[in-house]
Amino acid sequence: MPQFPAGFAWGAATAAYQIEGAVAADGRGDSVWDTFCRRPGAIRDGHTGDVAADHYHRWPEDVGLMARLGITAYRFSVAWPRVQPQGHGPANDRGLDFYDRLTDALLAAGITPVPTLFHWDLPQPLEDQGGWLARDTAYRFADYAALAARRLADRIPLWITLNEPFVVTTMGYGLGTHAPGQALMLGALPTAHHQLLGHGLAMASLRSAGARQVAITNNYAPAWPASDSPADAAAAGAYDALQNRLFTDPVLLGAYPDLSAFGIGNSPGYVRDGDLALISAPLDALGVNYYSPARLSALPDSALPDSPPPDSALPFHREPIPGYPVTAFGWPVVPAGLREMLLLLRERYGQALPPVYITENGCSADDVVAADGTVDDQPRIRYLDGHLRALHEAITAGVDVRGYLTWSLIDNFEWAEGYNQRFGLVHIDFATQQRTPKASFGWYRDLIAAQRT
Ligand code: BGC
Repeated sequence: MPQFPAGFAWGAATAAYQIEGAVAADGRGDSVWDTFCRRPGAIRDGHTGDVAADHYHRWPEDVGLMARLGITAYRFSVAWPRVQPQGHGPANDRGLDFYDRLTDALLAAGITPVPTLFHWDLPQPLEDQGGWLARDTAYRFADYAALAARRLADRIPLWITLNEPFVVTTMGYGLGTHAPGQALMLGALPTAHHQLLGHGLAMASLRSAGARQVAITNNYAPAWPASDSPADAAAAGAYDALQNRLFTDPVLLGAYPDLSAFGIGNSPGYVRDGDLALISAPLDALGVNYYSPARLSALPDSALPDSPPPDSALPFHREPIPGYPVTAFGWPVVPAGLREMLLLLRERYGQALPPVYITENGCSADDVVAADGTVDDQPRIRYLDGHLRALHEAITAGVDVRGYLTWSLIDNFEWAEGYNQRFGLVHIDFATQQRTPKASFGWYRDLIAAQRT
C-alpha cells in the first residue's frame, strides 16, 4: 500500500441503533426505528435493534478492540432518544453519561471521538408531529445538538451533524423501506430541505456551545448512464442531482440544483428566505460515504430491489452494473468509483470543497467462524485494499482527504436487512455476543501500523 500523508486519520465507524441495544435503558425513549421494527414484514426475519451488539453494556470491550486495531479516530453516533426521550426539553443526563464515558475512554486510548448527531434514529414523538416533513423538527434538532455539545464539546474536535440525509428522504419517506416507512415518492422532498435546515441550525448551535469543527456526511455514487443515448444521459443527470447534488449544493454553494426533471420548480414553498444562508454557513469538513456507483437508464431493463416502482414518476431507473464482483449484498465492487467521485466533487465545488473525510466505506460478506475459531474474510480485505488504493490515487491527484473510517468496526443491525448482512472487521455472534476479530481486522491493524511508522 502506498504511503498516505502524515497525520492522516485511520478509523472505523458505527451508529447507535445498529450496535447499542439497551433500548429501554437509562430513560431512552423510542425512535422511529423501534417503531418500524415492530411493523410486520418491515425487517427481514423480524429482527430488531433491541439488543443488537449490546455495545451499550460492552463498550469497554469494544474500545479495547479499537485500541488493538490501532485506529486513531472512531466515528459513532449519539442516539437522540437517549438525550431527549421526547425529542424536546431538557437533557436526560443518564443518556448523555454514556457518551461522556465513551468519549473519555476513547481519549484515554489515544482515539479521537467523532460523533454523528443524527444517524436516522429520530425520537418517535417527533415523528408523531410530522417528523422531517415538519419544519419544526429542524429547530428541535438544533436544540438537541446544543445539549450534546454543552456536555461533550470540550473533548470533541469534529462533529458530524447528519448521516446520509439522502437515504432518510428516499428510503424513509419516499419509498418506505426504512423508518418511518412512508411511501410518499416525490412528496418526500420537503424532508430534504428540513434536514438541511436542521444541519444549518445545528451548526450555529454547536458553534455557540463551543464546538470546534463541524461536518455533514453524505453518501455519493458516480451516476453512470446505461448507454450512450441522450435519454440515458438525462436519466443519469437526474439521479446525480438527487443523490450527489441535492444535499451538497445547498451546503457548499448556497443553492439547490436544477430539479426540473422531477417537475420541481426553483423555489418550492417550503424553502423560506434566509434558509439557504443558514444551510451554507462555512463547514470545516465534508464526510463522504462511498459503497458503489449507480447505473441509470430512462427505461428499465430490469428493476433492482429498493429501486422505485417502474411505473413511478421518477425520471430514471437503476440498472445492475455487470462485469464486477459483488458483495454479499449484491453491490458491485468498483474501487475506481471512489476516485471518480472524489475528483468529481473537487471539479464541481473547487475552492468551496472543504477537506474531506471518508466517513464510511466497506462491504458485507458471508462471514462464518471456522472450526478453528477464525473468520477468513478475504473478500473484505480485497474490497478495502482496492478502495484505499483508489483513495490514494485521488489524494495524489490533489483531493484534500484527511482520513478514512471504514464501515464497520463490528457486525451490526443492517437496517431493513436485520442481522443478515455483516459489515464488521469483528464478527459478532448475536446469540452469545462473542466478539471474534476477522482476518480483515489483522490486515487493517498491520496496514495502520505500517502507515504510522
Ligand atoms: C449507512 C450505514 C449502513 C451502511 C451499509 C450507510 O448507508 O450510513 O448505517 O449500515 O451504509 O448499508
